[in-house]
Amino acid sequence: MCGIVGYIGNKKATPILINGLLSLEYRGYDSAGIAVIENNEICVLKDKGRVANLRKIPEIDTLESSIGIAHTRWATHGKPSKENSHPHLDNSKQFAVVHNGIIENYNELKEFLCSKGYKFLSQTDTEVIPNLIHYYYTNGISDDDKFLRAVKSAIDDLKGSYAIEVISNLYPDRVIVVRKDSPLVIGTSKEENFISSDIPAILSYTKNFYLLDDYEYAVVYNDHIQFFDNSLIEHSKAIKSIEWDATAAEKNGYEDYMLKEIYEQPNSIRETIGTRFKLGEKCCFDDIDINKEYLKTVNKIYIVACGTAMHAGLVGKVAIEKLCNIPTGVDIASEFRYRNPIIDENTLCIFISQSGETADTIAALKLAKEKKAKTIAISNVIGSSITRVADYTIYTHAGPEIAVASTKAYTSQIILLVILAMYFAENLESCKKDVLDNLKVDILDLPSKIEAVLNEINGIKEFANKIYTEKDMYFLGRGNDYYVAMEGSLKLKEISYIHSEAYASGELKHGPIALIENDVTVIGILTDSNLVDKSISNIQEVVSRGAKTLVITNQRLTNNNFDFIINVPETNNLISPVLSVIPLQLLAYYISKNKGLDVDKPRNLAKSVTVE
Ligand code: AGP
Ligand code: GLU
Repeated sequence: MCGIVGYIGNKKATPILINGLLSLEYRGYDSAGIAVIENNEICVLKDKGRVANLRKIPEIDTLESSIGIAHTRWATHGKPSKENSHPHLDNSKQFAVVHNGIIENYNELKEFLCSKGYKFLSQTDTEVIPNLIHYYYTNGISDDDKFLRAVKSAIDDLKGSYAIEVISNLYPDRVIVVRKDSPLVIGTSKEENFISSDIPAILSYTKNFYLLDDYEYAVVYNDHIQFFDNSLIEHSKAIKSIEWDATAAEKNGYEDYMLKEIYEQPNSIRETIGTRFKLGEKCCFDDIDINKEYLKTVNKIYIVACGTAMHAGLVGKVAIEKLCNIPTGVDIASEFRYRNPIIDENTLCIFISQSGETADTIAALKLAKEKKAKTIAISNVIGSSITRVADYTIYTHAGPEIAVASTKAYTSQIILLVILAMYFAENLESCKKDVLDNLKVDILDLPSKIEAVLNEINGIKEFANKIYTEKDMYFLGRGNDYYVAMEGSLKLKEISYIHSEAYASGELKHGPIALIENDVTVIGILTDSNLVDKSISNIQEVVSRGAKTLVITNQRLTNNNFDFIINVPETNNLISPVLSVIPLQLLAYYISKNKGLDVDKPRNLAKSVTVE
């Protein structure tokens, strides 16, 4: 959601800013713009639409400046338009600002500024910021560090979330940045520094990063950076070296990132398993200080996340309850944070976020910490915000996920949760050793089984060809198959814009069956051997009412009259979602392709949802 880029150095800023914005496109946006300091004036070029439109503005090629800020906007206040695009200038055109987040008290601040004679050209919340900076700059700020002090005074007035870059033609040698609850990193190299919303966007320029904390200010020059705390006391900060391979964030010959990421799953699962266990050995989580004594005190676990990550949490809950016998609840982060959950020091809270930047998940995590729970973050992005708030972090190591629709992160989150559940069970001795040993064998077999699923995709392609023009679809399952149905339905909605619903098969008769009529498409997931007969009966009920059916199963189904069957390899029920979700990911993908849609950047969606 929104992308911020900044550059100051010895090269032309514009191409670096545009490249950065292109790398951040996956986050989702509706407008793009840049501001550079050219001949002692701030030059702003911006418009609604893609970065490609911005690139076509003729003046863009004439810019020589080596300092600039850039932005892709995901509108929260004011429709996508040229006026509302960032960067925004103050009335005197001396300060330019890009902002990611929401200023909750902008109305109040706007009224104040209007009373002082300021005029507003946009409907955004952001435009108050450059004008507040100008207001403080010209009203009573002492001469020492006047620019930084004016920015700080303006920031002190803001309520909400922000990652902000500011430049001024009065100070053409620096970019000031600050953040609260929105991501921002600074990449550093010899005689040039880069600013970005995430690491992969500038990974091709440097591997050395500073991860800015909430309320921390950085004044970025071409050859050095100063860091200040919220009282403007200067401090030093450690550099973090990132060992990611920049090419991991490229398409490598695949048509889309989503397809590439679906095909990466054998490997991403191998990476997630990593050295967590070997056959015959106990699971290893040296990275979290959670031992037997502590686990014995835990009487409840909450898993909290949004969207796909929450769906992974549901599968994790089944494993934790089965292996550890600890009651486990799964919550949507945006609900959890406002429902006053019952939490105390005997509660363990696990927060899952691929990006580690999801505003609701971070807020829910902060709430759990306030209530004295122990907190674990599961994230895919090293050093992301969630990892800096939680007591402990464990990484999925799935590699960069660029497509908005999450695929490999989901399967890695499930596997990491199941291994964590095994680790708890080994400590608590809550489960027989042979159960865990067999599960370990099944987990280690997963990568080759995923490869087998990926080698047999013709059936899915054929089914996608048949149904891609439909308006509604239904997904059914029981137990973990229901949770996979939820994920399959979300994938379909996100990238094909087809309305779909997931139901627990047993709920069918309590309402949704009224929607089943001739030729409607129903997708059933049948992998749980204990529940398969019941699920078959439910799908027969929709067949009798004329539904077209696709069944994904690892069971031998005889005497059925389903239209399409996709077989996946058999495995332990606790991890079967990792295999059964793959045909559903591919189904959504091929339907979206058939409809000619942008698979990687679906409309209205953002990769990381950094606002509430
Ligand atoms: C997944 O396909 C979605 N784009 C979305 O539901 C996502 O999983 C959710 O926004 C949570 O993101 P996070 O894992 O980065 O916190
Ligand atoms: N709230 C700001 C706006 O609507 C910033 C949105 C964003 O994060 O892109 O312009």
